[in-house]
Amino acid sequence: MASKIGILTGGGDCPGLNAVIRAVVRKAINEGYEVVGIKNGWKGLIEKDTMALTLDSISGILPKGGTILGTSRTNPYKKEGAVQKVVTHYKSLGLDALVAVGGEDTLGVATKLVAEKINVVGVPKTIDNDLSATDYTFGFDTAINIATECIDRLHTTAESHHRIIVAEVMGRHAGWIALEAGIAGGADVILIPEIPIDIDEVCGLIKKRHSRGKTFSIVVVAEGAQFKKSSHVLQEQKLDEFGHVRLGGIGELLAREIEKQTGYETRVSVLGHIQRGGSPSAFDRVLGTRFGVKAVELVLQKKFGRMVALSGGTIIDVPLEAATGKLKTVDTEYYELAKVFFG
Ligand code: F6P
Repeated sequence: MASKIGILTGGGDCPGLNAVIRAVVRKAINEGYEVVGIKNGWKGLIEKDTMALTLDSISGILPKGGTILGTSRTNPYKKEGAVQKVVTHYKSLGLDALVAVGGEDTLGVATKLVAEKINVVGVPKTIDNDLSATDYTFGFDTAINIATECIDRLHTTAESHHRIIVAEVMGRHAGWIALEAGIAGGADVILIPEIPIDIDEVCGLIKKRHSRGKTFSIVVVAEGAQFKKSSHVLQEQKLDEFGHVRLGGIGELLAREIEKQTGYETRVSVLGHIQRGGSPSAFDRVLGTRFGVKAVELVLQKKFGRMVALSGGTIIDVPLEAATGKLKTVDTEYYELAKVFFG
């Protein structure tokens, strides 16, 4: 009987997931393995909800966004008896290894499952790019390209109507999307979670810009940014199974404050899930492909409890804990570079 690799995708969907699935299936089949797709992240392993992954099932998925396996934010460690079900189903499916594709939550579960003797290999994904131990996660490049295009489009209305437009982007507690899309889109102010917002300073920058003849400004704010002396703006108080709050709404508050202090007409645009949708960029397809092939190589070498990562152009492997131990946030030096273009 052929050896079997299982693969699951967990957490928020992300452009490039299908490139990883395709690469894992192609490489594994070339090496004589069978591949089982586990549906909807850890939920699928708890419920034993699977699909066979063959050359046919992965044909044509490379340019597609999202994940053909489906996803969920299910945490087996938050459900009575679920970890045991994961272990039992892993065994009864006859899996020799499991490739877990996800962000800090999915990989956090994968890290714990090593102790349950599950031969897990991790693949880092997230549009937020906030995972330590990898230079980039796939999905981020697509997200910043979409956000940049949106910022370009927002310029049109801002300029024609002489308005301030605040663009709220995702990124959770890291400012990577705001920073890089902001730089690429020529934002006049960029606000990130790592640096509390000084509203007087923001309004001062906008006024300074207007005093040199400009009649519009674009402000990019990360959903996780917060005003000095206040806590995160939340869409709802409820925590998900991984203890996360739903961020969102800072753009609206900021826009109101800017309009009040500057007197300039101010509007807000929340980009939301548009940033995660649609076809992956070439960069994300290639990175996902390289990660997928490397993940199977780790299985062949029996290097379990490891995660694939990008380091200076090379695909390497690192301990799974290295990915989730610490959030990768924007450093001050990089933010200083962005500030050159403020106001
Ligand atoms: O982690 C990816 C991400 O898109 C974050 O940027 C955002 O805060 C969160 O997921 C949104 O989650 P959901 O899709 O569950 O609303």
